[in-house]
Amino acid sequence: MEYKELANLRHDVKHFDSKKVPLEDIKEIIRTARLAPSGINIQSWHFVVIDSIEAKNALLTEVKPSNHEQIKTSGGLLVIFSDSHYVDRLKLISERAGKEFDDLETERFTNRYQTYVSNFDAEYLNTYMSTTTGLVTMNLLYAIYDKGYKANVILGFNRSEKINELLKINKKFRPELIVPFGKSEEIGKPSFRLDLEDIMEIR
Ligand SMILES: Cc1cc2nc3c(=O)[nH]c(=O)nc-3n(C[C@H](O)[C@H](O)[C@H](O)COP(=O)(O)O)c2cc1C
Repeated sequence: MEYKELANLRHDVKHFDSKKVPLEDIKEIIRTARLAPSGINIQSWHFVVIDSIEAKNALLTEVKPSNHEQIKTSGGLLVIFSDSHYVDRLKLISERAGKEFDDLETERFTNRYQTYVSNFDAEYLNTYMSTTTGLVTMNLLYAIYDKGYKANVILGFNRSEKINELLKINKKFRPELIVPFGKSEEIGKPSFRLDLEDIMEIR
């Protein structure tokens, strides 16, 4: 689908038909989403596919009740986490890239970038992680709609280590957002947007 069409068509939907989204479709959606940009190409996103009813119910205990309906009826459910161990992430990237990296890139990922991220204070690391999550989530939403599904984004849950405990996810990953999706008869309503006079300045 053309980008403008996709952008105009994507509106949040909060009721799905409960039919399971095939894992192959979910994988294809994540493969597209991960093409998102990230600072120093850190790719600090981590997707957890909630597949079992037990995992879904466990997750629900940490979600605001007003968000339960969309999660319960979703046919696909992702919790997006951020990897907080940036040095290890860089090592992983360089290992996986192998010969795809030239000497310069190898040097960056095995040395220069590692020194750089080691000097991040907590606030800067938080900014990096949150920004990267935002970008990959937007890509994910478009990939979901492009594949014929609808979705929403949920921040309204307890974003604490309890989520890691319930889902048995390594605590180096920080829970960021929940994305329920699936087929839906609901016609998402275009929501109000401020116009350029309120959001743009020229210098
Ligand atoms: C970071 C973020 C957090 C959100 N959290 C929730 C949420 O907890 N529950 C909910 O129903 N919708 C949530 N939404 C959906 C927004 O309410 C929705 O995107 C916004 O009203 C604009 O509507 P649109 O998506 O149809 O353009 C969230 C969206 C974003 C981007």
